[in-house]
Amino acid sequence: MKYTIVYSSRTGNTKMLADQALAVFRNTGEGECLFYGDAAAALQEGQKRGEIAERADILCVGFWTDKGNADADALAFLKTLGEMVSVPGKLILFGTAGFGSDQSYYDRVIGNIAQVLPKAVNPAAYFMCQGRMASTVLERYQAMLEADPGDGRASRMIENYHAALSHPGQEDFTAFKQFLEKIIGTK
Ligand SMILES: Cc1cc2nc3c(=O)[nH]c(=O)nc-3n(C[C@H](O)[C@H](O)[C@H](O)COP(=O)(O)O)c2cc1C
Repeated sequence: MKYTIVYSSRTGNTKMLADQALAVFRNTGEGECLFYGDAAAALQEGQKRGEIAERADILCVGFWTDKGNADADALAFLKTLGEMVSVPGKLILFGTAGFGSDQSYYDRVIGNIAQVLPKAVNPAAYFMCQGRMASTVLERYQAMLEADPGDGRASRMIENYHAALSHPGQEDFTAFKQFLEKIIGTK
């Protein structure tokens, strides 16, 4: 089994999942890693793209959520799948988002990503979890609450910010590992 793991991560949350994906694949004791690295590096490997994605039995692409969609680097990589002669065996998406505990939100993010995918490429499965955000986000909502103490949205966002601080955490890593093992077929 040949696999490729491409990720985009601005503050390290998604890279943690990517590292774990690599560990899970390596633990199977078989398989060949065609490429492991960030989306920008994968794009720079332009001529070899066929090598790193097209030949993969399993292509894992990780993203961080930006404006309810995958971030620009991850999207740019995903769009290139349409330029290939053949598509990877299985496309697995994994991502982190500031907003958590809401599967319907995750479904919407994946729906937005699906719109940029070439027709022939369907994600076989996806995994998302919450990811901690920068403290500037908290400061912004605190300022909103100070300006209007009755601002319910700001209060909820502050609550969500604190909830996100522990993610991705052990529970997310365990869930992601089990998710991948099912796909790889080791469990
Ligand atoms: C510019 C910017 C935009 C963001 N937009 C969203 C968003 O629309 N929805 C969301 O759930 N999280 C959003 N986030 C939060 C990140 O997706 C989240 O913290 C993620 O885990 C970051 O992953 P990384 O550490 O791999 O970069 C945004 C973060 C930044 C910096």
